[in-house]
Amino acid sequence: MKQTFITDAAAHVDQVVTMKGWVANIRSSGSIAFIQLRDGSGFMQAVIVKSDVDEASWELVNKVTQESSVALMGTISAHPKKEGVFELQVTSIELIHIAEEYPIGNKEHGPDFLMEHRHLWLRSKKQWAILRIRDVVETAINEYLHQEHFIRTDSPIFTPNACEGTTDLFPVPYFDLGEAFLSQSGQLYIEAAIGSVGRCYDFGPVFRAEKSVTKRHLTEFWMMDAEAAFVEHDENVGLQEGLVKHIVASCLKNCTKEFEILERDVTPLQAVVDKPFTRYTYTEAIEKLHELGSDIKFGEDLGNDDEGLLTKDSDVPVFIEKWPKNIKPFYMKIDPEDSAHVLNDDLIGIEGAGEIIGGSQREDNFDLLLERIREDGLDEKEYSWYTDLRKYGSVPHSGFGIGLERMVRWMSGVAHIRECIPFPRTVNRLKP
Ligand code: 4AD
Ligand code: MG
Repeated sequence: MKQTFITDAAAHVDQVVTMKGWVANIRSSGSIAFIQLRDGSGFMQAVIVKSDVDEASWELVNKVTQESSVALMGTISAHPKKEGVFELQVTSIELIHIAEEYPIGNKEHGPDFLMEHRHLWLRSKKQWAILRIRDVVETAINEYLHQEHFIRTDSPIFTPNACEGTTDLFPVPYFDLGEAFLSQSGQLYIEAAIGSVGRCYDFGPVFRAEKSVTKRHLTEFWMMDAEAAFVEHDENVGLQEGLVKHIVASCLKNCTKEFEILERDVTPLQAVVDKPFTRYTYTEAIEKLHELGSDIKFGEDLGNDDEGLLTKDSDVPVFIEKWPKNIKPFYMKIDPEDSAHVLNDDLIGIEGAGEIIGGSQREDNFDLLLERIREDGLDEKEYSWYTDLRKYGSVPHSGFGIGLERMVRWMSGVAHIRECIPFPRTVNRLKP
């Protein structure tokens, strides 16, 4: 019989169905047993009454272990008291595979143990919920961008040069061509693609070799870079705000049960959807931080503590725009009103989310771009294809990159980014 999914239970009340999945938990007492079945789409209780099943099925009740895979035949019933809760009244059980003693029990495990068993840990309810939130965030990003006339073009992962900074690259031997580097961001490539399609984005893994051991850094993470022709700084910031609002609204709409599992209080998220985000210039942000007691110096990058301080009394995310040009990459356009600063922005989330987005208007003038490349000590020949874009119908354009796992971490409310990607890669972990 065709598999019926737990998530579709409401449409199959009083029908005879087959459900397939894993035994998350089983308990029995004399003549009745309860299996907590999970099938990937959800969790559901299956009730097995000794007198209602054949002998072979009842024998299995005493045999199946946690994580064994089974097919359960029976009738779906609506819970008499709890709305939206369904049960399977089992008539027969088929054992697909009996699981060995499962290493992850109900007792507390340390993070190292769980990370070493990541391939199995993914099955636990909280990890399941985070994976689903990740999917909702990804889907929301795709939706919003298409709505705004962006199409997905994607960028290469092997690259000949740096996008964000030369010190944070992973080199890879590349046949007779010497060394390639794993991409830090596909931005430069989608800047080329907008010449064809106007507005586009890539969405895939990027790599950072900086040795940051924090709750917010991965060495491999997923980034969505968006780029748009004829968009200047203010409109760029508006697109970012629209995107984040759309993601948050989509999570609020689609992740109710996931938030419940994670015990995530979603009240703070409603303001993010309803209210305009705050905008500070870098200079204003530094002044504000000084008022709040930070000893950050003008010209320094904001640390985790500064980001926290700046957003702690805010119920909406905060943009910090127009940073000093000398701490930002060569491609950012200089502010025509203040040549020491660039037309860029970082978006800092609330609830300790930290930096979620980095974006900027790009330098579209050939000579100025070349000057910035030289100033930064980069090899202009390596970037000739990129500067070429400023020779043939150059247009003002802007873009931004959002870190998927940073967004998932914020939405799910978990402390550590390593739980926001199925198989995290960090300075200290490459397995499993
Ligand atoms: O601010 P970043 O470095 O910006 C860029 O790479 C631009 N080229 C993007 C663009 O304009 N198209 O990175 C963008 C975002 C950050 O705001 C953060 O959310 C995330 O990527 N990010 C990381 N996430 C996890 N681990 C890391 N090590 C990250 N580094 C950046
Ligand atoms: Mg950044």
